[in-house]
Amino acid sequence: MIGIDLTGKRAIVTGAGQGLGKEIGLRLAEAGAIVYFADYDEEKSRRACQEGIEREGHCIPWKAIDVSSVSQMRELIWEVAGQGALDIMVNAAGIMYPDSLIDLDPEKLWRLEDVNINGTAYGTQYAMQEMMKQRSGRIVNIASIAGRHGCTTKPYYAMSKAAVINLTQSAALFGAKYGVNVNTVCPGIIHTAMWDQILDFMMRDTGKSREECWQEALGYTIPMGIEQEAIDIANAVLFLCSDMARYITAQSLNVDGGARMN
Ligand SMILES: NC(=O)c1ccc[n+]([C@@H]2O[C@H](COP(=O)([O-])OP(=O)(O)OC[C@H]3O[C@@H](n4cnc5c(N)ncnc54)[C@H](O)[C@@H]3O)[C@@H](O)[C@H]2O)c1
Repeated sequence: MIGIDLTGKRAIVTGAGQGLGKEIGLRLAEAGAIVYFADYDEEKSRRACQEGIEREGHCIPWKAIDVSSVSQMRELIWEVAGQGALDIMVNAAGIMYPDSLIDLDPEKLWRLEDVNINGTAYGTQYAMQEMMKQRSGRIVNIASIAGRHGCTTKPYYAMSKAAVINLTQSAALFGAKYGVNVNTVCPGIIHTAMWDQILDFMMRDTGKSREECWQEALGYTIPMGIEQEAIDIANAVLFLCSDMARYITAQSLNVDGGARMN
């Protein structure tokens, strides 16, 4: 039987306290990896790890970290790599403001860029430095299908995710000579805390109920017409971190029920 075995691989997942990052961390641990859960909220990382440990995963909570801090990201990556190796780096931490093009204030814009773009850049840069020494490694960045096209509801978030897609391509070109594969996963719509923010915005805008707004979002954008779950993203990341994906790099994989084709 063919399966994915990451036994002994050492992984970091940022934004692993909840939502997609948590599911990715748990999935990698289920496949045998030693996974460091890094999040802004240390308590959430601890709880996520507890879940993993109950499923017999090797999950280690990292202290509270802000991915937009160069020094904190460097410390995380250097310390984990220094204990053996860093085989997998998943940059999943992200924030979103659903303000329109003419509404987002500059401080929020700065924060959005700092977390989504700079945080991913630090994670990519420092992981690459370690992985190129090992001459092996996998970096997976979490962007969004919003990064594939312009949009009216969250234009600056979309801009930040387009930057992540582009950075992935440059990093993949760099890493190709060193055995380091770099890819992006672009999720569609998954009902996490982040999507609750969008639903709040839609409810305010339309006067419709939360459920009506959610059904509208699903029906409008997803050809498959069924709800996507965090595990769908985790499975895509798991595949990209496996030996089966050894020849895949510089790609942005939409996991979205057919919503986007580019
Ligand atoms: N949910 C979706 O539909 C969807 C769609 C496309 C892309 N994404 C992307 O997937 C990723 C995860 O999203 P989610 O829906 O799970 O969001 P979420 O808000 O549920 O979880 C995000 C996690 O990241 C952490 N985080 C936020 N800022 C941080 C920082 N500066 N440093 C460290 N940790 C930080 C939060 O504490 C939280 O635990 C994000 O990059 C998001 O943009 C989500």
